[in-house]
Amino acid sequence: MTTADPGLAPFRAPFAPADEPIAAAFLAEAGRDAAAERRVDACARRLVEAIRARAGGLGGIEDFLHAYSISTREGLALMVLAEALLRVPDALTADLLIEDKLATGRWLDGDLKSTALLVSASAWTLGIAARIIHPGETPATILDALAKRLGLPAVRAATRQAMRLIGAHFVLGQTIEEALGRARAHREFRYSFDMLGEGARNAADAAKYFDAYAGAIAAIGASHGNAASPARPGISVKLSALHPRYEAISRERVLKELVPRLIELARLAKAHELAFTVDAEEADRLELSLDVIGAVLRDSSLRGWDGFGLAVQAYQKRALPVIDWAEEAAIASGSRLTVRLVKGAYWDTEIKRAQERGLADYPVFTRKAMTDLCFMACVKKLLAARGRLFPQFATHNALTVACVIEDAGGVEGFEFQRLYGMGEALYAALVAEQPEAACGVYAPVGGHRDLLAYLVRRLLENGANSSFVSVAADPRVPIEEILRRPQSRIGDAHHARNKNIPLPRDLYRPERQNSSGIEFGERASLNALLAEIRAAAPAAAEAAPLVDGIALPGIERAVASPIDGHSIGIVREGDEAIARAAMAAAAAGFPAWTATPCEERAAALERAADRLEQERGALIALLQNEGGKTLD
Ligand code: FAD
Ligand code: 2OP
Repeated sequence: MTTADPGLAPFRAPFAPADEPIAAAFLAEAGRDAAAERRVDACARRLVEAIRARAGGLGGIEDFLHAYSISTREGLALMVLAEALLRVPDALTADLLIEDKLATGRWLDGDLKSTALLVSASAWTLGIAARIIHPGETPATILDALAKRLGLPAVRAATRQAMRLIGAHFVLGQTIEEALGRARAHREFRYSFDMLGEGARNAADAAKYFDAYAGAIAAIGASHGNAASPARPGISVKLSALHPRYEAISRERVLKELVPRLIELARLAKAHELAFTVDAEEADRLELSLDVIGAVLRDSSLRGWDGFGLAVQAYQKRALPVIDWAEEAAIASGSRLTVRLVKGAYWDTEIKRAQERGLADYPVFTRKAMTDLCFMACVKKLLAARGRLFPQFATHNALTVACVIEDAGGVEGFEFQRLYGMGEALYAALVAEQPEAACGVYAPVGGHRDLLAYLVRRLLENGANSSFVSVAADPRVPIEEILRRPQSRIGDAHHARNKNIPLPRDLYRPERQNSSGIEFGERASLNALLAEIRAAAPAAAEAAPLVDGIALPGIERAVASPIDGHSIGIVREGDEAIARAAMAAAAAGFPAWTATPCEERAAALERAADRLEQERGALIALLQNEGGKTLD
């Protein structure tokens, strides 16, 4: 299958370019005149003040605390336990764990200790500030005391209730019917429903998620009124839910199998006149996702339909080229596309993955202000492309909202969007101030089993001290600080990078250089590697026992590849005598090796490592041909 319309070139842009030139371009465009900046200040200030005026309410959690007559402090400690338990995929194991923790009183032992990050994050998430827990107290000590005071059965029940509450905070309903019922009570918002679930592990998972999307589209379609697009409800889908091998090295298979599935869902959405948006996931899947989307848009049954859309992540250095591509795709497909501009929810993953892979640079910015600058550069590009693209600005940041309104000259021709369970106060203030503003809510739907990955992203987002929701809720942070523009935080293009985040190759400096890796998600790099492997594959390999660097004779055996049985060479097998000779040679060489200075021995290892990198094509060819290894 070809990837896209002949008129639409595949998306290709450098995966991880340097930050500085990008920053220079952003900085050159970022300023506004003094009057415009004053209007941004005034608008953002009003919104932040409104958020602060509403902060502190505990919502549904108050009822929970009341029902068990437990203090906020105890409630928070229970939430901590509940949150850890949410990491357990099935209810039975969760129950067993509750029993275990309650019986031993060892709340945060072992595996659960690693939830320390989530623990601090949850305090913000639930609107219960960390100040509630006094110095010296831990969730464990508080829960111990609570169990003594209330007895185990009550604490057990409360823990289960807390688990439900955490989920309910971010999820509109466990089923699409429940979610639609709740959505009906808030008709002022446009909902984009998201069936929880991602990263299908196998074909059965993917089929289950496909059915969930299809069922949801039918249910949403059956329930909505006659509003015109784009004021219709919609659905957001994750491609990783629809195929267990949604990864760059499985591109051909993904195009063959995933594209028809996405077309089928898109046709269903079109039949019900629902907006249909493909979420943005990890950076290594970006090119592949656009190949898939390009192929779907080529389907003639979708031509002229304005409901299809994609999310674009501003933390990615490729955000602007993606918008250019989307505009070209809209022209080629003869449809208007919606573009949901987000900052990006996988930041920690992207940083860690680039380091683990030993990439030359990061695909995402390392300073938040760069992401904010990129977001505003994308806003301008999207506003200029209105007509071909319908922009949706997804943010919970009051300053970002104020900047968008200023740069758009009002609130027409685009939509603001928030996530369910986040940004309520900001959006209430926004709607009060700008009644004409179109506002949407991304509303996850599903049970606990599929919640975890989504929940972790929300907790990281709420807990990060760089995040707007966190500083807006903290009265100690002056509003002036919140209103500081990203261009003033960056100042100069040389400060585009976070100094505390070394490049992946420098991660272990000064001790050593990190090994270097290839980004499969960048087609050009992957193709170059594949060519290197093909060119370096030895015509006929020969392996023999090496003793003291000398290849010895032995019984020859032909070796065939487990991939397709083709002959790859011969191996001369060693025998007992050769093994003894090897041991003798090692024993004889040992004193000299031990006496060799450490630096020299280390240098030998490094030379070996360097050669593995320099001759990786030949090495990979051998590993694949002899061991049947996949490229990954
Ligand atoms: P802010 O606090 O202003 O920004 C926080 C963001 O800044 C972080 O999320 C991160 O993107 C970025 N950031 C933080 N630290 C750094 C750093 N050191 N360097 C560089 N950047 C940094 N996310 C997806 O990934 N894919 C989606 O498909 C998607 N869909 C969404 C749909 C909707 C309707 C909404 C509202 C959000 C969606 N998100 C998606 C989540 C979104 O990415 C986050 O909610 C968003 O980043 C929060 O931005 P903010 O303006 O609200 O907050
Ligand atoms: C996420 O799943 C909202 O798509 C975004 O985190």
